[in-house]
Amino acid sequence: MKRLKMDWFADVKPFRHDPLNFLLNFDLTKTEPLEKLRLGPQPVYLLTDPELVKPILRFPETQVDKGRLIKKLRSVIGDSVVILSGEEHKRRRGVLHGMMARGNLESLAPLMSAEIRRCLASAVRAGGFDAHQIGSTLALRLICITAFGKNVLSETDEQALVQSVRLIEDDVADEIFRVFPLSPWAARKRNQRREASRVVMKRVVKKVREEVGTTGGLEEYAKLGLSDEALADEVLTLLLAGHHTTGAAVAWLLHALATEPGLAEKISAEASLMTDLNGEIDASKLPGARTTMATVREVTRLFPSSWWFSRETIEETKIGGRTLKPKTSILLSPWLFHRSAHFWEEPDRFKLDRGYNNPAYLPFGAGPRACVGMTLATFELQLIAMECASSLVLEFDQVARPEPEAQVMLMPPSMLMKTTPKIERLSQVA
Ligand code: HEM
Repeated sequence: MKRLKMDWFADVKPFRHDPLNFLLNFDLTKTEPLEKLRLGPQPVYLLTDPELVKPILRFPETQVDKGRLIKKLRSVIGDSVVILSGEEHKRRRGVLHGMMARGNLESLAPLMSAEIRRCLASAVRAGGFDAHQIGSTLALRLICITAFGKNVLSETDEQALVQSVRLIEDDVADEIFRVFPLSPWAARKRNQRREASRVVMKRVVKKVREEVGTTGGLEEYAKLGLSDEALADEVLTLLLAGHHTTGAAVAWLLHALATEPGLAEKISAEASLMTDLNGEIDASKLPGARTTMATVREVTRLFPSSWWFSRETIEETKIGGRTLKPKTSILLSPWLFHRSAHFWEEPDRFKLDRGYNNPAYLPFGAGPRACVGMTLATFELQLIAMECASSLVLEFDQVARPEPEAQVMLMPPSMLMKTTPKIERLSQVA
C-alpha cells in the first residue's frame, strides 16, 4: 500500500471509509512488526506481528495501559472493572471470574437451555427471525441469569435492564470515536439518556438487594462492600461488554448452521451423545464436544466481535525494534490477524479442521485484561448451537455470505432466516 510519509493524516480517510479493508491491505510478509499509521499528530502504530501480542499485553500497567480511548467511557460506566487498574481492578475481576466459573455456569445450564428454547420457539411461531436480533436478546438474557441467579429478576425487571442498555449503547459507540465535542443541545440529550439509564439500573439493583438479598454473582460483589451505585456500574458494564460481542457471534453461528453443509447434522449428533434422561444437555461434557467447540472457534476467528482494541504507552517503551514515546497508541486487530493468509490457509473460508494454538488467534485478547466473559461466551455459544441444531432446520436464502460492518464492534448485517421444527420437517419430507 502506498502511503505518503510526510502526511500526518494520510490514513484517516481510508481508515474511516472502510477500516476492515484498510487493515487487510497490509501485506504482513512485508510490514514492520509495528507499522506507523498516519491518523493525526498523536503517534499510532498497528501491530502486525502476533508474536508481540502477549509481550505488549503483559507489560506492567504503569508502563503500558488501556489508554485514552477506553477511558472516554468513564462517564457512562463509571469506575467499573473495564476502567479500573491496580488492586481494585484485580478484586473486581476476581468476582467476575467466580461468577463465570465453569462450575457455576454448569449449574445454570438447564435454566439457560430453557431460555434458549423459549426464544427459539417464539422464532418458530413467527416463521423466522433476524439472526442478530435473536442473538442479542439471548446474550442479554443469559448474562442476566449468570449475574442474578435463578428466578431473581422478573420479566419486567429484565426488560427494564435491556431497555436501559439500548438507551445508551449508540452513545457509547459515538463517544469512543468522537473527535469534536458535541453541541450543547446534543450533550444535554445524551446526559438525559445516560441519567435515565442509570436510574433504571440502580432501581433494579436496589430491588434485587432488598427483596432477595444478595444472590448469584451479586453475592460476591456485596462482600467487596460496593455501593448500589458502583454495583449498578458493574452490571451496566457486563451488559454492554457481553451483549453485542456475544450477540454478533450468535448471529454468525446461526448463519453457519444454516449454510455450512452437514454442520447442523454433526452438531445435532454430538448433542444427542451428551443429553441426559430429562432431555437436558449435560453441560459438564461441553469441553469435549469437538465439532461444536471447533465451530465456536471458527466463528470467533472469522468474525471477531472485538475487531480491534488498543494500548497506550505511559513511559518510553522498547518493542518490536522501536522505541515508543509516552502516549503512543498501539492498535491490535484480531480481524487483521484472523484474516491473514500469512497465518491461516484460505483465511476467508469456514473450516473445522484448523488448529487454534496459533498466536494469530486472539478473539478474547490475552494477558491480565483478557476477556473475563470468555468462558461464558463460549459456553452459551455451544449451548445455543446444540439446542438449535437438535430441534430446528434453519434456512438462509442468500447465496453470498453477508459482510460484517465495522462499528465499535464487528456487527453482522440483518440476516433473515426461515426456521422449521425438525419433526415438522420430517413429516414434510415423508
Ligand atoms: C464473543 C464474545 C466476546 C468477545 C469476542 C469478547 C472480546 C473481548 C476482548 C478482546 C477483550 C479484551 C479487550 C482489551 O484487552 O482491551 C474483552 C474484555 C472484557 N470482556 Fe469480553 N468479549 C466477549 C464476551 C464477553 C462477555 C459475555 C462478557 C461478560 C458478560 C464480557 C466482559 C468483558 C469485560 C468485563 C472485559 C474487560 C476485562 C478487564 O479489563 O479486565 N465479554 N472482551
